Amino acid sequence: MKQTILLKVNPENPNLDKIQIAAEIIRKGGLVAFPTETVYGLGANALNADAVLALFEAKKRPLDNPPIVHIANPSDVPPLVQEVSKKAELLMERFWPGPLTLLFRHSNIVPSVTTAGLDTIAIRMPKHNIAIALIKTSGCPIAAPSANLAGKPSPTNAQHVYEDLDGRIDAIIDGGAASIGVESTVVDLTIDPPIVLRPGGTTFEALKRVLGDIKLHPFVEAEKELPLEKIRSPGMKHRHYAPKAQVILVEGTIEAMTYKIQEFAQAYILKGAKVGILATDETKSVYKANVVKSLGSRFNLPAVAQNLFSSLREIDAQGVDLILAEGVPLEGMGLAVMNRLRKASGYQIVKAK
Ligand code: TXA
Ligand code: MG
Repeated sequence: MKQTILLKVNPENPNLDKIQIAAEIIRKGGLVAFPTETVYGLGANALNADAVLALFEAKKRPLDNPPIVHIANPSDVPPLVQEVSKKAELLMERFWPGPLTLLFRHSNIVPSVTTAGLDTIAIRMPKHNIAIALIKTSGCPIAAPSANLAGKPSPTNAQHVYEDLDGRIDAIIDGGAASIGVESTVVDLTIDPPIVLRPGGTTFEALKRVLGDIKLHPFVEAEKELPLEKIRSPGMKHRHYAPKAQVILVEGTIEAMTYKIQEFAQAYILKGAKVGILATDETKSVYKANVVKSLGSRFNLPAVAQNLFSSLREIDAQGVDLILAEGVPLEGMGLAVMNRLRKASGYQIVKAK
């Protein structure tokens, strides 16, 4: 067991003495969880193979699933990659700092554990004062997967990180709640047209407006487990975002969905199960169950995204046996929300008619 230290830092104006302490840990090969605008990341020096290996161990993450490398300035990219294409430049200029991760072919200074032996590297520049201050002060690119135990919902505040990783990492920087609440969008730029491997904080619509031609990997909208040969991003094949409770996702019109969910809830409660419902502001008063939680208005999908992971954790902490979740439209931030809910349900999806 490690002694995990807690550093409270002001996200508006990061306290430099505390950032110094965290940066010193990173430089020495240690592990520091820190806030970004999407979710909390668990950071290690991306160029130190032992540190990155320790990162996988702390998270219990399979070694074939590489982390994202975080940088503080677009000029940090060229040393890590073979080439920066015109499209990459365009996306970096338009969306960085922000919730967009780009794949490049990596240079030979990147240890193979950092890229899980792939010939590509995933890079992003976060839009968060603490993350940027930490990367700059550490003086190295920081490999940072989400700071949760593998398989759990990603952490959107320091308390979530503490629950999963206390005693397993050196420090947690508490910089308040993450504003976006789901992870970055991952785009593969090593093929043409580029392809979205994971939907996230940067919408597909926004990428399309800038690039014109860009595709969604079938996995992004998948409603069932895809065969292994279709998988491009290693993260796709691992179980994700799974609470302890069983999750059933119900999709359909508002009327059909609420009817179906209430029907399920009643049936399970009759059988003695404790049932939680993930609803929206527009529907929550309809339901009778042991726990009913609203993710926010279904007409405000960024708010739904922001609340998603913390609500999954909260409802799970109430000890429910079953979580019934409402679907939302597959547009804007709804695409990322639905991708996470479908995975969390292990593809137990019911189409209400
Ligand atoms: O918002 C985010 O992206 C957060 C914050 C901390 O920045 N990070 C995050 O990291 O979500 P992680 O490790 O939980 O997810 C990284 C995803 C995984 O699905 C992984 O498979 C994919 O990026 N990835 C990383 N390197 C890749 C590569 N070379 N090729 C394909 N996919 C890659
Ligand atoms: Mg993750």
